[in-house]
Amino acid sequence: MDFRKEIAAKISKLTELEEEKISSLIEIPPQGNMGDYAFPCFTLAKTMRKAPNMIAAELAKQFEQDAILEKAEAAGGYLNFFVNKTEFIKATIQEVLEKDTDFGSTKEGEGKKVLVEFSSPNIAKPFHIGHLVNTVTGNAIEKIFKHLGYDTVKLNHIGDYGTQFGKLIVAYKLWGNDEVIEKDPINELLKIYVKFHDEAEKNPALEDEARKYFKMLEQGDEEATALWKKFKDLSLMEFKKLYDDFNITFDSYAGESFYSDKMDEVVEILEKNNLLVESNGAKIVDLEQFNLPPCMILKSDGATIYATRDLAAAIYRKRTYDFYKCIYVVGNTQALHFKQFFNVLNLAGFGWYKDCMHIGTSLVKFADRKLASRKGDVIFAKEVVDEAVSKTLEIIESKERKLENPTEIAKKIGMGAIIYIILKNNRDRDIAFSWEDMLSFEGESGPYVQYTYVRGKSILRKAGDFNFEAADYSHLNSEDEFNMVKLLDAFKDAVKEAAERYEPFVISRNVTELAKAYNKFYNTHPILNAEENIKAARLNLTKAVCSVIKTGLGLLGIDTPENM
Ligand code: ARG
Repeated sequence: MDFRKEIAAKISKLTELEEEKISSLIEIPPQGNMGDYAFPCFTLAKTMRKAPNMIAAELAKQFEQDAILEKAEAAGGYLNFFVNKTEFIKATIQEVLEKDTDFGSTKEGEGKKVLVEFSSPNIAKPFHIGHLVNTVTGNAIEKIFKHLGYDTVKLNHIGDYGTQFGKLIVAYKLWGNDEVIEKDPINELLKIYVKFHDEAEKNPALEDEARKYFKMLEQGDEEATALWKKFKDLSLMEFKKLYDDFNITFDSYAGESFYSDKMDEVVEILEKNNLLVESNGAKIVDLEQFNLPPCMILKSDGATIYATRDLAAAIYRKRTYDFYKCIYVVGNTQALHFKQFFNVLNLAGFGWYKDCMHIGTSLVKFADRKLASRKGDVIFAKEVVDEAVSKTLEIIESKERKLENPTEIAKKIGMGAIIYIILKNNRDRDIAFSWEDMLSFEGESGPYVQYTYVRGKSILRKAGDFNFEAADYSHLNSEDEFNMVKLLDAFKDAVKEAAERYEPFVISRNVTELAKAYNKFYNTHPILNAEENIKAARLNLTKAVCSVIKTGLGLLGIDTPENM
């Protein structure tokens, strides 16, 4: 039973609007006393040549009650519908239980390819907390689009190109020690890279040497390429450990170097369109008409830069995937860069530049000073992950009840806590890291939502092979129960809204509300000790809540332990 569809059918009979259009307009009012669904009559004002509130009043008058819709009331330009609660509860719970992990999925994206680029760390450089935020956010966005039927592709635009590799090669040849590097590749490579800079200040000849090696690398010199590849492999190995912790995989790791042989074409295209202008020896594209600073394409020594590679990548992706959308999940600090190169695509006549979007992420702020232990302001993602797990393990082990596999569970909870805090608020807000809040089993946290699931599952286990069919939903007649079922139903809208706004937090908010509602219900209503048919209804409700929490957390990239 699809209540939206039923309402749409009713309205469509009374107006000239199509059912599907009506369905898409129907909203869920913020407060229960405003009805369970609302149809905004504003769209009808033009064709019916009447004020929306008059239309709403007329439609309300013509409304006929039936088994599933109890009444319709006009409120301003809205027509508010009140459902038959028992029917609504029964239909919603049944739908959740039938669809299980597919609940909230649609076919809206069928045949449409959506590329999601995220993570994109730089090799031989630390994978810092900012990369982690992009990684977690991009991963969730991909899952959300996939749930809506889009054909998604996950891209990792690894930073593996640039003059710094000339420096790193020189540094490695001078001070590299394989044994040390293999043990802790990124830190060690970073160390010799920093040393290069210190030494080059005293001995500028090193810079020339680095330039020479970068040139050799560009020309495919065997030794230079082998070293670069070694750095890359070692770095990727480290990054992949982190991706494993979060259960994240990619479809492509084509990084910046992949586009090195595709940049001549970019320059040609820009030249053909008379877009390249000389400026102090460099070649730029003027973007004044967009109120943006110029986009540099070639440096004065003829070398390409970050933006040139992004242009090549975008063109390559359009050709290879013919994407419907290409989403770049990257920190807000790079917003200007994306505006610039999207507009260069625009000027070059690529109309699809409109399908490219930069989804910006915010900064992490640490409430816990201790977390920011490292000198300087770079926080390594790995440190954060390790700390999350060890702190969780401490909490778990301090509890009286002992778990069989504490390390495994600590990992799920720790990762869940990190993902949750990143996706708790909209992307514009700074992310406030505080272990105390993040790892609290109460309040708005990953562990809290996971714990609600575990609690529900434990009740279901205790119920054993109880006859769930005996459920009589007319007994779920408290406000708490009805509101909880409304949250289950609202999950479907939450997934759609999350995709429309590229905001996973819409889902985290829905499952958090659901968890709160369930805990309140759990504390005030007997479940296992209720009468048989009430018990059955409440157990089915419990099952449905667990299912939606699991699906919702899953879309965020958070695993749900069965015990904790
Ligand atoms: N590697 C870059 C960095 O760490 C991020 C790359 C973002 N993606 C892109 N297509 N420019 O800052």
